[in-house]
Amino acid sequence: MSKNPVYITSEALKRQEDAIERIAAMPERPQSYHIVTYGCQMNAHDSETLAGMLEQMGMLEAKDRKEADLVLFNTCCVRENAERRALGNVTWLNELKKKNANLIIGVCGCMVQQPHMAERILKQYPFVDLAFGTHNVYELPEMLEVLLASGNRVVRLAQQENTIAEGLPVKRKNSNKAFITIMYGCNNYCSYCIVPYVRGRERSRSMDDILREAQTLLESGVKEIMLLGQNVNSYGNGGQETFPALLKALDQMGVPRIRFMTSHPKDLSDALIDAMAGGKHILNHLHLPVQSGSNEILLAMNRHYTREKYLERVYSLRQAIPNIGLTTDLIVGFPGETEAQFMDTVSLVEQVGYDAAFTFIYSAREGTAAAKLTGRLPEQETSERIGRLIRVMEESTQRTYQSMLGQQEQVLVESISKRDAAMVSGKGMRGITITFPGSSADIGQIIPVTIIQSATNTLKAQRLTEGE
Ligand code: SAH
Ligand code: SF4
Ligand code: F3S
Repeated sequence: MSKNPVYITSEALKRQEDAIERIAAMPERPQSYHIVTYGCQMNAHDSETLAGMLEQMGMLEAKDRKEADLVLFNTCCVRENAERRALGNVTWLNELKKKNANLIIGVCGCMVQQPHMAERILKQYPFVDLAFGTHNVYELPEMLEVLLASGNRVVRLAQQENTIAEGLPVKRKNSNKAFITIMYGCNNYCSYCIVPYVRGRERSRSMDDILREAQTLLESGVKEIMLLGQNVNSYGNGGQETFPALLKALDQMGVPRIRFMTSHPKDLSDALIDAMAGGKHILNHLHLPVQSGSNEILLAMNRHYTREKYLERVYSLRQAIPNIGLTTDLIVGFPGETEAQFMDTVSLVEQVGYDAAFTFIYSAREGTAAAKLTGRLPEQETSERIGRLIRVMEESTQRTYQSMLGQQEQVLVESISKRDAAMVSGKGMRGITITFPGSSADIGQIIPVTIIQSATNTLKAQRLTEGE
């Protein structure tokens, strides 16, 4: 269970509202913004909040960063290449700034939250006007006002790690699917992972606040809600406020489709499995990152479960929800990983039969426990292993797809298919992309279909006709 959060005071939130009003009235303020988001849904959701505040200031979203007066980079640092990509893009923006001296460039998110990176950005990127960490998102209006008034760069990097800001404006990207963050931060300190250092301690929003947000979304016509947190299974504030209780309350509210991520296997309780099995609207999909199939590596990763415990959880899930789709995250090349330990991961993947997986090569992150370990593997070896793992996973995906032929599914249609204008595309209940004949009138609708064919990363379907 998470520690009691400290709520950002109403005075601090009022200061932001006042700053928003004053900026809106400034004739010389930026008129348009563009946010570039890297990383996970946590960042995606923060970007929606940043956009919400900027729109209240009267700014419009520019579809291209080249046309914006204000560009914000919301960065990720979970692996080195995520960081490299973000920095490369920031460097490129300097060229735009040479053409438009009034362009404002801001960098925020997880990468900035690391003090050594914040320092590096400020030293090496003098054209960055605004830099702030993950705990300062709500202060964007105040920071921007100072910048606009003084012309001096503004940097804020709060180290208070257990705050929650309620009631901020949000500009949602998609009107049919919405994210609700239910808990922030992480206490697990998996030995390879930087997230606990840049997102702070675990803290849960109150169930009342979450349910109120869900009700508003439901009334606005949202069809699917994705509950977000680094470890949603440990959501809770004591007493009645547990994750299974939250799921049940949302299910009863009538939200058409409910998803959540991420679940940590060590906290996947029987009560949660029961809530999933008993719910009418909780989708039959679970993202359950395993990381490795080797007990030695799992121990070194500080994951707090064994291969056997994980398989037992998978077994219980499938007993309760036979058609559940499982997805996972896997890390290849953890320091000291032997060929035999890697093969344990391969065999676990075959045993579980996942729908899909995100596979990553281990990346050492400064400040984490694993960064101090010896036994780093050469790149040639890790890329060879990840190649093998991806092939095994593709076979697993194809087995899943084959087993779904002839089955019925419900697709929340998102768009016209990019490949064929006579087809629409969306996600089924297991999170798999499904395409079938349709038109723009289907977008935002949940449509029953029958799966007829499998492709590389998608399933093809046909509409269920009346009476089927
Ligand atoms: N909270 C989630 C995941 C957060 S990060 C969980 O516990 O499952 C998303 C994924 O990135 C992780 O599951 C892991 O597979 C991967 N990851 C995190 N740190 C990494 C690192 N240092 N190197 C490679 N992959 C990493
Ligand atoms: Fe990182 Fe582990 Fe926390 Fe996930 S549970 S965010 S992998 S420390
Ligand atoms: Fe990246 Fe931060 Fe998410 S490090 S994965 S954006 S929590």
